Amino acid sequence: MSIQPKDSIIWRCPSNIAIIKYWGKRGNQIPANSSVSLTLSESFTEVELEFEGKKEKGIELEYYFENQKKPEFEERILRFVQTALNDLPVFLNSKVIIKSKNSFPHSAGIASSASSFGALALALLDASFPRNYENNNTKFLDKASFIARLGSGSACRSMFAPFALWGENQLLKESYDEMAIPVSEVHPEFRDIQDDILIVDSSPKKFSSSLGHSLMKGHAFAESRFAQANQRTPLLINVLANGDWRKFINITESEALTLHAMMLSSEEPFILMKPQTLQIIERIQNFRKETGLPICFTLDAGPNVHVIYSSKIKDEVNSFLNTFINSIGIDVINDKSGNGPVKIR
Ligand code: PMV
Repeated sequence: MSIQPKDSIIWRCPSNIAIIKYWGKRGNQIPANSSVSLTLSESFTEVELEFEGKKEKGIELEYYFENQKKPEFEERILRFVQTALNDLPVFLNSKVIIKSKNSFPHSAGIASSASSFGALALALLDASFPRNYENNNTKFLDKASFIARLGSGSACRSMFAPFALWGENQLLKESYDEMAIPVSEVHPEFRDIQDDILIVDSSPKKFSSSLGHSLMKGHAFAESRFAQANQRTPLLINVLANGDWRKFINITESEALTLHAMMLSSEEPFILMKPQTLQIIERIQNFRKETGLPICFTLDAGPNVHVIYSSKIKDEVNSFLNTFINSIGIDVINDKSGNGPVKIR
């Protein structure tokens, strides 16, 4: 199939937040352990892809982020497209213009690589094999997940909702290192989950996740950490099927703290949490003890706190969080579980 002149495609891909964390990798974006994530709905990236064939050999690429040309990102994106060329041969000799924008403010401290590479993978794949998208959606998303992974590991999980599993796990017959799959059985309790992201610090990340992953090489606790995540993955898959909030909370909070414990105990230790991160965690745990309500926190590789709870208790949590947030004066992004990527055009 050859590229039509000046076609344009738009895909929207949501971000995701890991419940079982991926931290440590090998080879070509192969995770050191299996991970499970919740796919969001309000935090997403939209990528518009324009492309035309050209006579000269090679790819020519222009990248715009929020309407501004960003030559500093072009190199990473070009490397990504070149890595994916085995799967996207139609781009071999073409000019590709990528226009990307996020639904969340740039300064929100949300890692956008999952949604960005997710949306880009979907658009590139759709441009290459449009009929596959129309006729075979599952296979299309599998392939998009495979390609997105090459750009950013966690991006491969954004293809599936409400929960996705990534990384080969001996206890789970269907699980792959090269792509994510949807978690097949999700109890109604976990189908409608809120994620309020409390923005403790919105400055750009001081440590890239690539550096974080690399610090797991030779880390004193690496092997036991990978084993722990691999044991927890099937437990969480069961919990998601059974609707057990108590166990969900236990795994979710321990995973968040273990991720940061790995950072604190690496050869070059680093601290991403801020005093307010701990203050918020303590308030959430106290609120849970006092009310018995199913609410918990998780953390990404940063200081912001994701407050996870069932939509059924939205009113109670809103009144608790609003009072608290006003008293400490921070921004919040109200997100929730979503339905996965959408083609806009
Ligand atoms: O996909 P990366 O390379 O940006 O790594 C993501 C790492 C965490 O967000 C900290 C955990 C995860 O599983 O998403």
